Amino acid sequence: MKDNVQIFDTTLRDGEQVPGCQLATEEKITIARELEQLGVDVIEAGFPISSPGDFLSVIGISRAVKEPVVCGLTRAKQEDIDVAAEALRYAKRGRIHTGIGASDVHIKHKFRSTREQVLEQGVWAVKYAKSKGFEVEFYAEDAGRADLAFLAQMTEAVIAAGADVVNIPDTTGYCLPHLYGRRIQYLFEHVSNIDKAVISVHCHNDLGMATANSVAGIIAGARQVEVTINGIGERAGNTSLEEVTMILKTHPDLNLDTNIKTERIYGISQMVSRMMRMPVQPNKAIVGKNAFAHSSGIHQDGFLKHAENYEIMNPSDVGVNSSSIVLTARSGRAALRHRLENLGFKVDGAELDTLYENFLIVADEKKNVDDHDLITLATHAPVLDR
Ligand code: KIV
Ligand code: ZN
Repeated sequence: MKDNVQIFDTTLRDGEQVPGCQLATEEKITIARELEQLGVDVIEAGFPISSPGDFLSVIGISRAVKEPVVCGLTRAKQEDIDVAAEALRYAKRGRIHTGIGASDVHIKHKFRSTREQVLEQGVWAVKYAKSKGFEVEFYAEDAGRADLAFLAQMTEAVIAAGADVVNIPDTTGYCLPHLYGRRIQYLFEHVSNIDKAVISVHCHNDLGMATANSVAGIIAGARQVEVTINGIGERAGNTSLEEVTMILKTHPDLNLDTNIKTERIYGISQMVSRMMRMPVQPNKAIVGKNAFAHSSGIHQDGFLKHAENYEIMNPSDVGVNSSSIVLTARSGRAALRHRLENLGFKVDGAELDTLYENFLIVADEKKNVDDHDLITLATHAPVLDR
């Protein structure tokens, strides 16, 4: 039996903080409904005290979705927790996500405080949030750079205070995967009550390691991962939902599962990109335009012989209709014949050789040879005279 990893989606909170990505309440509700269909376990719907719009969005999402837990972010402050509790009142299952800095740099230069004081405030915030009758998740901000013994002390104290989930964020995207994994392992080895809470990983992508760090944390024992669609988020972004989900699916030896209906991934990726006006880079893993496109002759030939030669996932598993064979000047005869066959032209032998020569002339002039060019080539060859 596989262990389940809970998917906590923060597209509408950490993702929506990105300049230019702001959404109206109705748009957030549309995405939240889609996240519910996708099968996420938790939707972080916003930071209710941050603006009246966010407050209303958390209310709207709490009313709109039935299955996922709806979560609201707070600082470790009474007014934040009061407002979050108010915004979550319609949630079937609501969660208050409260926390405070854990690294010395945050303690000294952000909170101008001491380890003892932040620990006390964190414990107080968990108890206060718990008194409101919600699930409580505690975040130890900048845990990736925190002193490990202090992080363990903080984790133990907030679990004793009633935290159901403890989030260990690599807020600045600083950690190396094996060291972040060891951090999580250290907590499992040094926090006496760790079995009373779920450990969550929340990684940023400043050095391009958010997904690798999250997976290292999961392998070390975390059973919740905080992600966004397309990896959108502050600065270089957050861990992307589609990457973590497909890593766990593609590596059954990890013996880990999620509740994500992976065939819905591409649809929601496109929707979020469109609504947040945030294009997906073509080479983005899983959901980029080129993620299942083959363009070089050697790869195309191998792929056409047997898809597994060059694909580790079936595109239909993530909702992409089919792989594509892109024709460029680096493509070979096998790819040209395949694309021509799809257009109803059966060519082989000398005829294919001639068409291929003409194709290369066109391909050298155009970046991408499309169906229209192919039809012209096949019906009017030779298209270009040398
Ligand atoms: O990156 C971070 O530390 C966060 C917390 C507020 C959870 O987003
Ligand atoms: Zn974050």
